[in-house]
Order: sequence, then structure tokens, then C-alpha cells
Amino acid sequence: MNLKDCHNFSDFRILAKKKLPSPIFHYIDGAADDEITYNRNTSAFNDVDLVPNVLRGVENVDLSTTIFGKKIDLPFYCSPTALQRLFHYDGERAVGKAAQKFNTMFGVSALATVSVEEISSLIDTPKMFQFYFHKDRGLNDSCLERAKAANFDVMALTVDTITGGNRERDLRTGFTSPPKLTISSLFSFATKPMWGINYLTKGKFELPHLQDFVKEGTSTNSSIGNYFSTMLDQSMNWSDAEKLCSKWGGHFALKGIMSVEDAKKAVDIGCTGIMVSNHGGRQLDGSRSPFDQLAEIVDAVGDKIDVICEGGFQRGTHMLKALSLGAKACAGGRLYLYALAAAGQAGVERALGQYKTELERDMKLMGCTKISDLNRNNLRFRYT
Ligand code: LAC
Repeated sequence: MNLKDCHNFSDFRILAKKKLPSPIFHYIDGAADDEITYNRNTSAFNDVDLVPNVLRGVENVDLSTTIFGKKIDLPFYCSPTALQRLFHYDGERAVGKAAQKFNTMFGVSALATVSVEEISSLIDTPKMFQFYFHKDRGLNDSCLERAKAANFDVMALTVDTITGGNRERDLRTGFTSPPKLTISSLFSFATKPMWGINYLTKGKFELPHLQDFVKEGTSTNSSIGNYFSTMLDQSMNWSDAEKLCSKWGGHFALKGIMSVEDAKKAVDIGCTGIMVSNHGGRQLDGSRSPFDQLAEIVDAVGDKIDVICEGGFQRGTHMLKALSLGAKACAGGRLYLYALAAAGQAGVERALGQYKTELERDMKLMGCTKISDLNRNNLRFRYT
């Protein structure tokens, strides 16, 4: 199987599995506990049907939307994800350049393997920084200052990782950052020699936003669950979020909001957006899916801040459904991560291009030419 054989999300996933040592593949592919939430994030879209209209003159479709004051050409973007250098040696460079080609937003994690300064020098598409509230206040200040100096457009505070999720696949494979060889994983690294050669020869593995402050993740191996549980500040509260928001002084979002109560509080503290998200099912298994929870949050705050639906998207039609419910944009990590692992920048471009083509086709079939044409009349819920 090659890149040209990848026609959808699941094709990219299969190719990624062929390319990556299994601990790394399962780090992307896995989620918390029994992975009920992870699976529901996608299956939720199937409980709603689309109701198309016809005879509307649909030769030109405009997919652009405005989020956080920035016009982007697509109603979806690449959520920030950690450790991309492990998935492909170009890491965040590849994803950022692909996002730029489509003029959509690119999110860079505090746990990224390429610095905000380098990303900023490479691309001028709108950029979001994903902030984790660490115990180390020097690290927190440094992240804010560096993202600001690098002209990032949006600061997104992660609020759903107050402790590490129970990712049993990582426990079984022994996945850590940086990766370490264990007796059980030795075979899987040995069977992917190209990954090993690229890892060893294509630049050093670094976590440039963290490594001056903490050893975990770069010079000391740590699982991500353990990193969250030990490095992040579990006392984080609304007052901390409000202070960060005013310190940043620009577009500020909370990533990982699931309740109406919290969505309203986000408005009160000055946020300009929220990501309705359960962290890809990687934290609290049993949490509701973002799509299932979207309508009530849009109804509560959608006229005040940008509500982004994050997680579970594998098809253009999934995005149409979230946009019809009132999401300002759709976002995801696995959306592009398998493609990154499959073929670097070319893979991500192919994946983003396919979602765009699907959306254009599906919009035409729905009788819609612009995102604002989508609304709840397009949808029927099977179980109400
Ligand atoms: C995760 C974090 C790092 O592994 O986003 O889910």
C-alpha cells in the first residue's frame, strides 16, 4: 500500500500502522480505558441523517469561515497534537506547511517537537498555541511569551488533562517520550528499520518549549499519562484561566469544554472561543461525544464566542453535520496524524485535500454553496 492508495481516513490509518513501530502507532490510535468515548466520538455522527435540498445552482462552493477573527478557507483545521517528530521526521513542519497550502489554522502543542519561532518563520497561516498549565510557573511564562513574540493568533488552554488518562495500550507497549526500547517493543522497532534510521539521522528529538525547564519527556523517558499527572498543576482553576486569558491579551480559548455551565464561564472570563472536546477519548472514558454535546453548548454561547467541535471526524459528511448544528469549525488530531505518519507533508496535503473535496461534493449534494447555508433543518436525529 502506498500514498496513492489512500482514499480515506481508514486507508491512512492502515498505512500509518505499516510505517510506525507499534508503541508509536498505538499512542496515536489508542484512548482511555475501554475506548468507548473514542469510538462514540465518530459513531455519534451516524445517529443523525442529512436532509438535502435540490435545484439550487451549486456550481461554486465557498468553504471559508471566520474563527478567532481570522478568515480560513476551510471549515476545519489541524488541532495541536504532541510529539509529531515521532510520527514523521518533519513533524510539525510538515503539518504546518500542509495547513498553509489550504489556508487553514494550524495548532502547535506545548509538547511540540518544533519551536513556535521556527513554525512562525516557516508559515503565515493562522496559528494556535496549545498551552498546558504546568506547576513550573517559569515554564508557563516562557510559553506565553514565546508564542506572543512568534505572533501566534490564538492561545488555547487545555482544560481536560488535569491528570493523565488511563491509556492501557501505552501501558502495554511501554510507550514513552522519548521512545525507549523495551524487551516487548524491541521486535516492533526492529521490524520498522526506516523509522529507526530516520529517527536517528534526521535531527535530534527535542521538546523545545519544555526542555529548559523539565527533563521529563526529553532527557528522561516519561509516558504522557505520567507527564500530565506529575508535571501539570492540578490546582488549576477558573481564576488561573482568567489570569492567563488577560495576560495573553488576544484570542483565548479553552480546549476541552463539555458542559454548558463551563461554556458560560468561559464567556465570563473573556474567552473568544471554546473547543468542545474530550481530548479524542484519551482522558475520561464515558465522557459524552463532542457532537452529541454540541447543540446545547451552541444554544447557550454560540452567539457570543466561537464554538469549535473537536474530535471524531473522519468524513466530510461528519463535518457537515457539526457545522449544521452550529459549530464555527471542526478540528481534529487523528484527522491528519495517520496521514503524517503515512507520508509526511505529502500525506497531510492529500488528507486535507480529500476532506476538502468531500466537503465540496457533499455541500453540492446538500444544495448548499456556503457554510452559512448549513443549519439544523438539514438534520434529523434518529433517536430523540
Ligand atoms: C495526548 C496529549 C499529549 O497524548 O495531547 O493526548
